[in-house]
Amino acid sequence: MSRTGAPTAQRRTTLQPLGYGAIALLTVALVALAVSALGVSLVVAGGSYDPPAAGLPDPGALVVWGVPALRLLTEIAALATIGWLLAACILDPAGKDGVISQVGRVDAIRASIAALIWSVLALMQMFFVLANVLGITLSQAVNPAVFATYASDIPATRALMVTALLAFVVAFGAFITSTIGAQAGWLLVALVAVALPVLGGHGAGLGDHALAITSGVAHILAAVVWIGGLMALALHAMRRDGSVQRSLQRFSAIAIVAVTLLAVSGVANAYTRLDTITELITTGYGQVVLAKALIIICLGAIGWVMRDRLVAKVGKSGGVSLFARMAGLELAIMAVAVGLGVTLASSAPPRLQTAFNSFGETLLGFAYPPPPTVLTVGLGFRLEPLFLTLGLVGAALYCIGVARLRARGDKWPWGRLIAWLLGIGIMVWCTNAGIATYSQVSVGLHMFQHMTMTMLAPIMLVLGAPATLALRALKPSHGTERGPREWLMWFLHSWITRVLTNPFYVFFIYVLGLYGLYMTPLFGWLMGSHAGHVFMQFHFLAAGYLFYWVLIGIDPRPKPLPYWGRLLMLMLALSVHGFFAVAMMMASTPLASEWYGVVQPEWIVDPLRDTLIGAQVAWGLSEIPTVIVLIVIAVQWSRSDEREAKRFDRQADRDNDSELTEYNARFALLADRDKQD
Ligand code: HEM
Repeated sequence: MSRTGAPTAQRRTTLQPLGYGAIALLTVALVALAVSALGVSLVVAGGSYDPPAAGLPDPGALVVWGVPALRLLTEIAALATIGWLLAACILDPAGKDGVISQVGRVDAIRASIAALIWSVLALMQMFFVLANVLGITLSQAVNPAVFATYASDIPATRALMVTALLAFVVAFGAFITSTIGAQAGWLLVALVAVALPVLGGHGAGLGDHALAITSGVAHILAAVVWIGGLMALALHAMRRDGSVQRSLQRFSAIAIVAVTLLAVSGVANAYTRLDTITELITTGYGQVVLAKALIIICLGAIGWVMRDRLVAKVGKSGGVSLFARMAGLELAIMAVAVGLGVTLASSAPPRLQTAFNSFGETLLGFAYPPPPTVLTVGLGFRLEPLFLTLGLVGAALYCIGVARLRARGDKWPWGRLIAWLLGIGIMVWCTNAGIATYSQVSVGLHMFQHMTMTMLAPIMLVLGAPATLALRALKPSHGTERGPREWLMWFLHSWITRVLTNPFYVFFIYVLGLYGLYMTPLFGWLMGSHAGHVFMQFHFLAAGYLFYWVLIGIDPRPKPLPYWGRLLMLMLALSVHGFFAVAMMMASTPLASEWYGVVQPEWIVDPLRDTLIGAQVAWGLSEIPTVIVLIVIAVQWSRSDEREAKRFDRQADRDNDSELTEYNARFALLADRDKQD
């Protein structure tokens, strides 16, 4: 029996709460491990400094080594910020009445400090990248004239400047706010900020740049959520504060999604950078990828053991210490993986940038398609991984929800399931079929895609009533905890939904999607980058979804518009659409020529005629959805009247029609008074 009275074995396994000194030492050790992995793998992958031949621009060893080193430190600060925000608003079960708990507050302050460090590191990295891209020394790059001239024109430095700004906003916001909703908002801002440098990275020049960029963004997001979340939990376990067991249970679901996404996006990203599988062995870059694949298998195995054996044990004595040790081991392996990852992101991959015959095709990232036919437009295929993945996930989750309802004997209209799957199908068709390729080279076909994406797909999705299904299928969480169902309820009753379903706001962004996009240089600017193109597609879909949610939505929303108001809004939208189409028909110059004037295959001989076809499509195609929506509004209106009548009748049955009695009594009184006058 030991001096503390606890049996020796137990004393050996139960860690005392670690002080901040010890934790700081552990942190430095993990960062040192990541930096060493980066250093070694940069040499292997050929990303280390090699003095260039005489006469070629040479930013110098400091800059060439400094860029990946700062990228690594910036990402570590980012994942710490995201980890603590995740702990404060998602993992910590103790928040009450929408306010984070005491432990959550401490995590929010930790996130704020990490975000400040992140902001400074991103700014430093920006100057190093500027020097590296321009091939000048650091001292030249920090020259205000050089900075002012080039920094905002280079995608990588522009992205880092925005990241530094957003990280600073997160630092300030996380410090001054203490509601769960606000911390979740800062978490979203931080996730956008960490993804930006990947959008401005070296993926854009590759053949499959849609796949390269989408998988790159998914990869970094999965990595920072998984590593950041585990880091925050490990700290709580080492500090013995917060409810580690409950937080670990909440984290394990997130970890499974993150590790799956990390593996799939990693393989997809590696595929866009290697020409052949043998390059995994024959090239330094490939060998680093292989090392990462081995690492993820190890991490997956440890994760499995933790999930299978440890989550249950954490509540018992010694369990938290065991978790802290396992988490420490996992974080050490992850530190190496991050170092290797930054090496890959900072080294030239074996696959060379695809050379195209024309500048237009280089902008597109693929060769011009042949003249359009119904088959090539309708059945062609070009992978747009983001919308395809969202479509598959959206369809799967919806079917799981319906199956859950049916399993417990609840009904769910087949019409809604069909509408949802149809909506998903139309969205995936618009973004992955031949139409998606042709829309980038022809105004006419672009308008066809736009109208289908912003009118037809959203109508079907809205009629699927996904929020209603989710509210019925999701299980409520324990006590005051906020789980997925409670988050959805909070969102649907929040000021955000009030704004998103405000008829004036909805009408504004619906109209903006037309005039704001095509009557300004915005279209050409957005089409110039993959991220811009995806953003535009999202805008089409989201603007349409919000518009039709307000008009014919089944899902709950704060202030539903009266039916006459919906008809009015539909008529107004129709006229706005009509004016836009007429303006296009009257145009004397082709639409969005800043893009279609450059990206122009031989078979587009008359761009003005192509614009005219676009106008006719915009005019004609808006009729069909309008008729569908008119019918739906009419049906919903008559049904709501029926419901109202039935409610009225039930009330009359319950209180012997007291309202009619009162009504008649008032008239009798008036009649009496008239008689007396
Ligand atoms: C199957 C296993 C994996 C593969 C094939 C893989 C592949 C890649 C590739 C190709 C890149 C370069 C992306 C670019 O150039 O933008 C990358 C970056 C990265 N990877 Fe992985 N990875 C894997 C697993 C992991 C794991 C387990 C982690 C962390 C736990 C991780 C963290 C990262 C990070 C942080 C980056 C840097 C992103 C950036 O700075 O843009 N990866 N990975």
